[in-house]
Amino acid sequence: MKQLGDRKFLPYISCNKIQQRIAELGNEINIAYEGKELVIISVLNGSFIFTADLVRQIEIPVDLRFIRVSSYQSEQSSGKVTQILGLTGAIKDKHVLVIEDIIDTGLTIAEIHNQLIEQQPASIEVASLLLKEDVYRGKIKINYLGFAIPNRFVVGYGLDLDGFGRNWPEIYQVV
Ligand code: IMP
Repeated sequence: MKQLGDRKFLPYISCNKIQQRIAELGNEINIAYEGKELVIISVLNGSFIFTADLVRQIEIPVDLRFIRVSSYQSEQSSGKVTQILGLTGAIKDKHVLVIEDIIDTGLTIAEIHNQLIEQQPASIEVASLLLKEDVYRGKIKINYLGFAIPNRFVVGYGLDLDGFGRNWPEIYQVV
């Protein structure tokens, strides 16, 4: 049992299970992109550990980039605006794989996807370690998924609660 503030967490997905699944995903990616080059766009902060493990299973040439997204309430529109920060270099005519840690409602990945599509990549796919499948309302296909999980808060292996817990080596679920 671990604790962050007043919330308690129990082990949920072990290091071994995570690594086994990542090896499978790496294999799928190697087959899908055989003979091609890949621009990988990793969405910080949460996906830094997943990205580090996944890219080491990929054998085709990889141009690895990192972005952050900032999300704010727009005064002009009623919804939230997601801005991509830190994307360097063109992706026009390149094969792009976006790496996320967790997809919940899918709003974040939808915004990232829409903004990247505008730059006319040759293709764009998505890998996510986790998906809260009961909550996901998006239309974007998650091409490489680690684990579908229920709608309960998880931390560890890059995922945080208010900045803490990212360093825990396995994934924990709130009690
Ligand atoms: P979405 O836009 O609703 O898909 O939210 C995705 C983002 O919400 C992720 O990138 C995380 O930052 C955060 N998030 C959603 N669920 C969790 C969770 O269980 N643990 C940690 N972060 C989460």
